[in-house]
Amino acid sequence: MNEQLLNVVVRKREIQGDGVAVLDLAHSDGAELPAFEAGAHVDIHIAPGLVRQYSLCSDPADARVYRLGVLKDPASRGGSIGVHDLLLEGRQVQISAPRNLFPLTPDASRSILLGGGIGITPMIAMAHTLHQQGADFELHYCGRSRERSAFMDELRNAPFAAKVFTHFDDEAVEQRLDLARVLGPGTRGCHMYTCGPSGFMDWVMAGARQQGYAEDHIHKEYFQVEVDASGEGFEVVAARSNKTVQVAEGQTILDALAQVGIKIEISCEQGVCGTCLCDVLEGEPDHRDVYLTDEEKAANDQMLVCCSRAKSKKLVLDI
Ligand code: FES
Repeated sequence: MNEQLLNVVVRKREIQGDGVAVLDLAHSDGAELPAFEAGAHVDIHIAPGLVRQYSLCSDPADARVYRLGVLKDPASRGGSIGVHDLLLEGRQVQISAPRNLFPLTPDASRSILLGGGIGITPMIAMAHTLHQQGADFELHYCGRSRERSAFMDELRNAPFAAKVFTHFDDEAVEQRLDLARVLGPGTRGCHMYTCGPSGFMDWVMAGARQQGYAEDHIHKEYFQVEVDASGEGFEVVAARSNKTVQVAEGQTILDALAQVGIKIEISCEQGVCGTCLCDVLEGEPDHRDVYLTDEEKAANDQMLVCCSRAKSKKLVLDI
């Protein structure tokens, strides 16, 4: 993929809540950036070989700035630590143009935005857009505590502040998220959007299903997943390269291919971004990503080689 990158500078940087770096990225001359839609993310080229995706949380109507929030994760494999240590105010950085894998559904009768922790970021951009459209929506922000949560001032002063509801684990029981009440019956054509830790998202999505929400009314974006590389070994044939590799137990296809000199373009290495998508010519993948839809997974003709494995003894890939 020969993508044109944008050169931007960190115009402003603040640490908010418990270790969230909030960065404003802009052109150094103040020129407008490419337009983006609510839910979009950019790839940030933090350092050579270190590329990560972060959702944009600024108002999509403001083309002068891309704002994003990055939680410092002690278990980081370089991404969040790199952002915190390297992307200081004034620093130049290359980013991709915005891409949107988490778009709002136009003409929803009502939209419920549910952000857990740092998963609030795409929800803020969505709230700006829905507010400007005069749409019926609510934004619910769940976190461990008020003090640890970023974007509190921004949400308090937002033009849509009246539609923001916060829910903190260490505050009164009455302010906890009553999911069934907030979602309402799924029969009303309401769409729900969620982003946050996977436990939070699983809980929210299970609640939506219980309320009768159809799958295409449940929208999600994972920002971090545990890669499970366990499972027996299998064989991978790289058809175009005419090479065969054995993928050992606990090894990723990506690593096995690298050992025979086949380099696949990657970014998140967590099955989130879709960069390492390969066509499957033969065999049955064991899909472990959160990028492909259930229908795409069932088709078994594509897979993400950074995290997925094989159910069959052999996979033939078009690489
Ligand atoms: S590198 Fe992101 S899904 Fe594989």
